[in-house]
Amino acid sequence: MTTEEISEVAVIGAGTMGSGIAGVFARTGCNVRLTDQSAVLLERGERNIRQAQQVLQEAGFISADEAVAAVKRLRCTDKLDEACAGVQLLIEAVTEDLGVKRDVFAQCDGLCPPGALLASNTSGLSITEIAGATRRPHLVAGMHFWNPPHIVPLVEVIKGKDTADGTIRCLMDTARRLGKRPILVRKDIPGFVGNRMQYAVMREALHLLAEGIASAEDIDTAMTAGPGLRYGFLGPLQTADLGGLDVFLAVSRYLFPELNSEPAPPALMTELVRKGNLGAKSGEGFYSYAGDKLDEYLARRDRAFLGCLEVLNREGSQ
Ligand code: NAI
Repeated sequence: MTTEEISEVAVIGAGTMGSGIAGVFARTGCNVRLTDQSAVLLERGERNIRQAQQVLQEAGFISADEAVAAVKRLRCTDKLDEACAGVQLLIEAVTEDLGVKRDVFAQCDGLCPPGALLASNTSGLSITEIAGATRRPHLVAGMHFWNPPHIVPLVEVIKGKDTADGTIRCLMDTARRLGKRPILVRKDIPGFVGNRMQYAVMREALHLLAEGIASAEDIDTAMTAGPGLRYGFLGPLQTADLGGLDVFLAVSRYLFPELNSEPAPPALMTELVRKGNLGAKSGEGFYSYAGDKLDEYLARRDRAFLGCLEVLNREGSQ
């Protein structure tokens, strides 16, 4: 399969990621069927897609006509067989649970045409195990979009143990066709590349907070006003090159042994989740969001990201 042959796409799961991914494909000219377990969930997904087109239009990334055309290419259905019929590519974006994903892949394998590619948007579960639920593991791979998918350029394409090279080539080309920046993850390891780095930072941030080294605000500022500013333009390895490998080696020698390496998340975080403090969506997390409207908060985030993206595109970041 080549990416030019892909015109009909199914997206399974209409949550945060599925709805965003469906919008990305529809904007590129594909007909997209989006499915979830109920009409209410599909309505929410469709609302997300409309909002995303509006944000992109207001920022000048797409025209009003392109926004309207994208929404027209979308069909929502709560019937999995309708979603799968005649597609060349299926993207799964259901709940992050291996059992649920294997079940979805087994069903979709029976409903999609024999040559269709099946990709999972899992954040880090085993692609090989997901593919094992199908009779076409050579046509199964990871295609990991980042949140918010209508803005963030990175897509990780992950090769499972049995994924064919042709499948990887087609998904890498497809990600480029969507205007994304794909990277190839050659080996199916938990968390792939992006989330391993993100969670290494997260573990240290939680440790610093739990140990009372700095406040939540100061820990976040240490990232957003420091390394975070760099990372849009320079990756960690380029950062080391520019800083001088001798300097980074000297710091690594004394600092690596000091960094947190606890396998379990700290009590601080498990306790917040136990109390139902899930962050912005419940109104309380490390910060309080009382009075903040989540939609407005997300719109501010999107505007900031798009502003950064425009500058980075202009300057040709790595
Ligand atoms: P979500 O909870 O917003 O959406 C998941 C959707 O899947 C729900 O609407 C649910 O009803 C639906 N679903 C569950 N079982 C289903 C089934 N059998 N058939 C059809 N629909 C089903 O979750 P979110 O955040 O969109 O995550 C989806 C996937 O994307 C997960 O694997 C997650 O790890 C991954 N991901 C999430 C990111 C994030 O920041 N939220 C970023 C990148 C990847």
